[in-house]
Amino acid sequence: MEEKFKLDIKKRPRRLRKSQRILDLCRESEVRPSNLILPVFIKEGKKGSEEIPSMPGISRHTIDSLLRECEKCLSAGVGAIAPFPNVNPKYKSKDASESLNSKSLANRAIEAVKKHFPEIVVIADIALDPYTSHGHDGILNDRGDWILNDETVEILAGMSLMAAHAGADFVAPSDMMDGRIGAIREALDECGFTDTAIMAYSAKYSSCMYSPFRDAIGSAPKGGKVKYLDKRGYQLSPTNSREAMKEIALDEEEGADVLMVKPAGWYLDIVSEAKKRSNLPIAAYQVSGEYSMIMAAVKNGWLDLERAKRESLDSIKRAGADMILTYFAI
Ligand code: PBG
Repeated sequence: MEEKFKLDIKKRPRRLRKSQRILDLCRESEVRPSNLILPVFIKEGKKGSEEIPSMPGISRHTIDSLLRECEKCLSAGVGAIAPFPNVNPKYKSKDASESLNSKSLANRAIEAVKKHFPEIVVIADIALDPYTSHGHDGILNDRGDWILNDETVEILAGMSLMAAHAGADFVAPSDMMDGRIGAIREALDECGFTDTAIMAYSAKYSSCMYSPFRDAIGSAPKGGKVKYLDKRGYQLSPTNSREAMKEIALDEEEGADVLMVKPAGWYLDIVSEAKKRSNLPIAAYQVSGEYSMIMAAVKNGWLDLERAKRESLDSIKRAGADMILTYFAI
């Protein structure tokens, strides 16, 4: 009789994978709806929402349909939204003056949400790209080849005051200008908004992953030679991680309340390093390109939606994100 082959090992990690209940006991991290933030696109008008072709399943909402979206969030247990406006081109300009309009689409949306759902956490985007005719996050110099830092920060501080006044719980500068967190904190405090928090897009990379978002808000170049906007003069280089830690340290020093890494999936090393270095909560943004890549594969029948969604979010959580901005939130 032949002996059954048997390994002489004491340690068998698979014991802990014997049943779902044991797996559950040993689970190290978990994404909960209350950790999620839904980014939402808003547009003018009364007619309902319109789907964004490069983001299947995601729409631009009017303020009315945004309120219905908020209801869906609450029933799904998601308590936070981050609205982004699709601004009518006639309000876009080189100096982004519409960004300082207290009755801009974005500010009206914040007001409406806080009026109907005071319990929803509203995270207001602070950046000029929805408002500039060229789609950059700041004011261009005369030669058109460099974003002017301090001039841009002055506007961002003003924009933050408007958003705080409209009722935003957080202002979230997504522009990557130097010194903006300190300037915004000072402006908010001087005007009595000491309880308005700052979620800083601290490590925001110059990524190819933002293209669907730029379609959604209408900041992508239209026609002409340039197909994709180049933001390398302010967003971080994908090759660098120590530089991200420098940005994170600066934002913390300047008074940020939450630090963000963006995109999430290709930058999990940055998420986990940020988590080690700072005691502030860490947010990660699973951006439009991450969403659309998954949806494209799902549409082709190459990936399973439920599993891809879950795994992509689980890995961001495992890397150390306390909260995740994701188009999958609902
Ligand atoms: C710009 C901004 C971008 C995103 C959020 N705010 C894109 C950019 O830098 O051009 C991208 C989010 C996404 O892709 O989902 N202030």
